[in-house]
Amino acid sequence: MPLAVYACLLWLCTSGHWAVQAADPPGGDICTRSPHRGLAPANVDFAFSLYRQLVSSAPDRNICISPVSVSMALAMLSLGASGHTRTQLLQGLGFNLTEMPEAEIHQGFQYLHHLLGESDTSLEMTMGNALFLDHSLELLESFSADIRRYYESEALATDFQDWPRACRQINEYIENKTQGKIADLFLGLENPAILILVNYIFFKGTWAHPFDPQSTEEKSFYVDDTTTVMVPMMFQSSTVKYLHDPVLPCRLVQLDYVGNGTAFFILPDKGKVDTVIAALSRDTIQRWSKSLTYRLVHLYIPKASISGAYELRGALAAMGIADLFTNQANFSSISQEGPLKVSKGIESVPEVSGSFIGRVCTVMASTQAVRPFAGFRMPSNSDHNQRCISKTT
Ligand SMILES: *[C@@H]1O[C@H](CO)[C@@H](O)[C@H](O)[C@H]1NC(C)=O
Ligand SMILES: *[C@@H]1O[C@H](CO)[C@@H](O)[C@H](O)[C@H]1NC(C)=O
Ligand SMILES: *[C@@H]1O[C@H](CO)[C@@H](O)[C@H](O)[C@H]1NC(C)=O
Ligand SMILES: *[C@@H]1O[C@H](CO)[C@@H](O)[C@H](O)[C@H]1NC(C)=O
Repeated sequence: MPLAVYACLLWLCTSGHWAVQAADPPGGDICTRSPHRGLAPANVDFAFSLYRQLVSSAPDRNICISPVSVSMALAMLSLGASGHTRTQLLQGLGFNLTEMPEAEIHQGFQYLHHLLGESDTSLEMTMGNALFLDHSLELLESFSADIRRYYESEALATDFQDWPRACRQINEYIENKTQGKIADLFLGLENPAILILVNYIFFKGTWAHPFDPQSTEEKSFYVDDTTTVMVPMMFQSSTVKYLHDPVLPCRLVQLDYVGNGTAFFILPDKGKVDTVIAALSRDTIQRWSKSLTYRLVHLYIPKASISGAYELRGALAAMGIADLFTNQANFSSISQEGPLKVSKGIESVPEVSGSFIGRVCTVMASTQAVRPFAGFRMPSNSDHNQRCISKTT
């Protein structure tokens, strides 16, 4: 069976965050909607833009991101930004500040964060933000109060002069918060910063219809038109939600986790990967959600292992979030001492194994310009197919 799949968009959001809210009529009565729902259209559009930016900058690479986390981390960072930097950040995330006041955005994320934290018991999910800043920087009380209130985030004093030690402190913090699933995030980083913002997600779900390990066999996996690799391919024959899309050149299935989680696996027709990626949008997902019907399917999904590093700076700049990384950056709401500017945007998915998905998104600020990058890695026992869209609803 030809599986021409190689990129992955991990989606972590809560009940209806994706599809239902996308259906909310524009200008609908905001008061009757949950606070986080107002965020959904912007977050979903931002997610697809970011994904497409990363694909276009690295067409041959696996891409695995959790865009909701990037949105959340950047929205939190906006609390520390002032003037044009702040406006640009929020608009770059897709928010129309005329229609949605800033307070409403942060309230939305606050609610979303809360939902993700308490989501149903069968889906284990931990999500959070933490800010590490050099002990020499005096944090504005209003900023620490805001990040605590809306993002349940804390600011931790760190000695960035002693980078190896600071590194250890951050790694231990994340490892602890993610129950050991995300470890040694900063191992390879060489550049000290004076402020590091970390967003982490740990997600664990169990397939509603588990794959039998006995059925996993080595099979060909078609990476692209010219590359074929042998991978352990999981197999099951079951009745699942299926669609042979009459509009786009692809087929897809929707697999459920126990509880409220769901993943889409998209199989583009041969050579049509780019067409499908270009068409990914809120409307497409919405249409798919409505059109899937139950069907007996022989399902082959590779146990994948992918690794790589991504630079978010270019992608974010292309999406209009440019000040952050330049001398124009205005972070006078974090600390009066400056200048602060973001030097790295790191997107990392350190663990996708078995039914685990864990990830971390990091934004760093420093007074010096250094090369930004983003990275993720996945252990080889990953259960997750690539070129999938996974969401939890
Ligand atoms: C940052 O923005 C604030 C509020 O708009 C402004 O008062 C301040 O002068 C700006 N700082 C810099 C360095 O541009
Ligand atoms: C923001 O919303 C206002 C009012 O609905 C609209 O007039 C304006 O064009 C919107 N701006 C953008 C950039 O979409
Ligand atoms: C799924 O989500 C709904 C609404 O958020 C919730 O009421 C329900 O308990 C969840 N299901 C499970 C199995 O936890
Ligand atoms: C890890 O978390 C536990 C409980 O939340 C806490 O008691 C402990 O001090 C933490 N350890 C580190 C290294 O942060």
